[in-house]
Amino acid sequence: MNEQSQVAAKVFKLPVAKLNIGMFITKIETTSSKIVISNAGQIRNLGDIHKLRQHKIKFVWVDAERSASNCGLPKPKPANHTTTDASVNASLLTREQKHENAKELIGEAKGLIKKVLAETFEGKAIEVAPFEVLADNMIESMVKDSDAMQCIAALRTKDAYLLEHSINVAFLLVTFGRFLKLNRDILKQLAVGGLLHDIGKIYINDAILHKPGKLTDEEFAEMKSHQTHAIDIVAQTPGLSQITQDVCLMHHEKLDGMGYPKGLTAEQIPMHGRMSCIVDIYDALTATRCYKEAMSPAAAFKILLKLTPFHLDKELVYDFIRCIGVYPVGSLVELSDGRVGIVWEAKNRNVLHPVVKCFYSLTYKRYVQVENVDLLKSDLNIERGISPSSLDVDPTPFY
Ligand SMILES: [Fe+2]
Repeated sequence: MNEQSQVAAKVFKLPVAKLNIGMFITKIETTSSKIVISNAGQIRNLGDIHKLRQHKIKFVWVDAERSASNCGLPKPKPANHTTTDASVNASLLTREQKHENAKELIGEAKGLIKKVLAETFEGKAIEVAPFEVLADNMIESMVKDSDAMQCIAALRTKDAYLLEHSINVAFLLVTFGRFLKLNRDILKQLAVGGLLHDIGKIYINDAILHKPGKLTDEEFAEMKSHQTHAIDIVAQTPGLSQITQDVCLMHHEKLDGMGYPKGLTAEQIPMHGRMSCIVDIYDALTATRCYKEAMSPAAAFKILLKLTPFHLDKELVYDFIRCIGVYPVGSLVELSDGRVGIVWEAKNRNVLHPVVKCFYSLTYKRYVQVENVDLLKSDLNIERGISPSSLDVDPTPFY
């Protein structure tokens, strides 16, 4: 391997906008020429990135081998897979980085909810501030790149349902709220509500929470009591906004008054409460549980529509369907050539023409070479949305 190919294998050109803490910079590029900087080294904090921007540096060269392992860079490729097209590496890396960041944020969210579940069970009061910080970070990442975040949020691990459901409800409320053009402060209150909405379930027997079958009337009554517990928890938590409380306490209410815990009627359920009912049901339907397989988004939309107008708000359900789209990012689709892929990019595209990351063939029943198919540039089209359970392979490694 010659020296040049070694360099190509481990050094990438990267826009400054894509820099992360922990990356090791060897060179910077000004608009006029490429120069070797005297203080080559690792990005230690956001201030370092800010300084580069202040000096109007647009691109830098990053050494993957000398960068921190958690900075989001892939491992350098072996020499026989090197490429001289640094921009290709940079664009691949960008999406990978975003996925790493999204995974990190979701991991952080799970950690926080887990801790608070345990503390609430021990009788400790919930501190709202860390949830507000987390909600802010979630919104920020959605604003920056909703595709990456949505994709990772759609990834289900089958365990820790309560954690994932809480995080997904928060993400879906932010997505829905953005679609309805609600302001950022309201988005934050919705997200905190989503993260905490099922906290009352800590008092429900695990055998009932995870029962792989239909609940008896008695068991269902106990399950419903998670909302009675929630009333007490919310009352004992200082600093919860009204909107956050609405999400926590109204996501099982129905417009016809047949819901719980209070049996509120339509005029008593504000928009935020109505949104939480829709989002909570949608997430439950599209998740795999011990007693049922996950539904495709389209199948879940049909059920939501059936629940209007007595249970759910019809106009809001239509808005929600328009917001999520029939092939949301992170969901699985079959293309017209029999390949299956993950809806990968939808930003600035119409709903029928996303980029799809294909990895499997339903025709040949085997994995195929991973390929990102841009449906705006391809003759192929989406045949149908599919649920993960209809595949006989696990799509998780491709997220
Ligand atoms: Fe609930």
